[in-house]
Amino acid sequence: MRIGSRDGKGEIESWSGVAAWFYNLFNRNPGSNSSIVSFSGVGPGDRVLDIGCGPGAALEAAHGAGAEVTGVDPTDGMVSRASSRVPEATVVKGSAEFLDFDEGAFTQVWSLSAYHHWAYPETGVEQCLKVLEPGGKVLLVEHKLKDGKDGHGLSMGGARDAAHLLETKGFVDASVDIMPVKRKEYVVVSGVKPTS
Ligand SMILES: C[S@@+](CC[C@H](N)C(=O)[O-])C[C@H]1O[C@@H](n2cnc3c(N)ncnc32)[C@H](O)[C@@H]1O
Repeated sequence: MRIGSRDGKGEIESWSGVAAWFYNLFNRNPGSNSSIVSFSGVGPGDRVLDIGCGPGAALEAAHGAGAEVTGVDPTDGMVSRASSRVPEATVVKGSAEFLDFDEGAFTQVWSLSAYHHWAYPETGVEQCLKVLEPGGKVLLVEHKLKDGKDGHGLSMGGARDAAHLLETKGFVDASVDIMPVKRKEYVVVSGVKPTS
C-alpha cells in the first residue's frame, strides 16, 4: 500500500482552502521558520527539503541563506502560496509518508510545526532517512508544550519519544534541543543519517 498518495487524499490530512487562507493570514512568518536557518547552520551547498512547508517561510529563509530548497505539503493552498512566494523553490503536493524524491537527494530535511500532523510518524521518519544523503540531518521543530499537555506541538516527553523513534529507524546522534524564539520556546528533535 502506498501510504500518503501524492494527491494528499485518503488517510493523509489535507487542509481546506479556508484553513490555508487563515494560516497564511496569521502565521505567514513564524519566528521558528527564520530561527531554524541559524540553528541548522544551513548555507550554500545545502539542499533542504521542508516537509509540511505551509506558506513557505522556511523555504524563503533557507533560500536567502544560499541553500537549494524544496517543499512538500498535502494542502493545495499551501503548495500554491509557497510556490509563488519562493519561485526558485521546487514545491510539490505530497506528505511526509510518501516522499517522491531520489535516495540521498537532500543534505537536510526539516519539518516545522508539521510533525504533529503526520498521520504515520514511523513511515515519515523512514522516508526522511531515505531522502537524506549519508551524514545528512533531520530536524523536527515543534512549539514546546508543557508536559502532560496535548496540542499543536510537542512536550519534552513527546520530543524524547520522537528522538527515540529516529534512532529506532536508523538515525544516529538523536537529540532534543530548545530553540528560543522571542517569548516562545520550540523543541528541535534532530538526528543524523549514518555515513556507513
Ligand atoms: C501548522 S502548519 C505549519 C506550516 C509551516 N511549516 C510553518 O511552520 O508555518 C502544518 C502543515 O503541515 C501540513 N501537513 C499536514 N499533514 C501532513 C503530512 N502528513 N505530511 C506533511 N505535511 C502535512 C499541512 O498541510 C500544513 O501546511
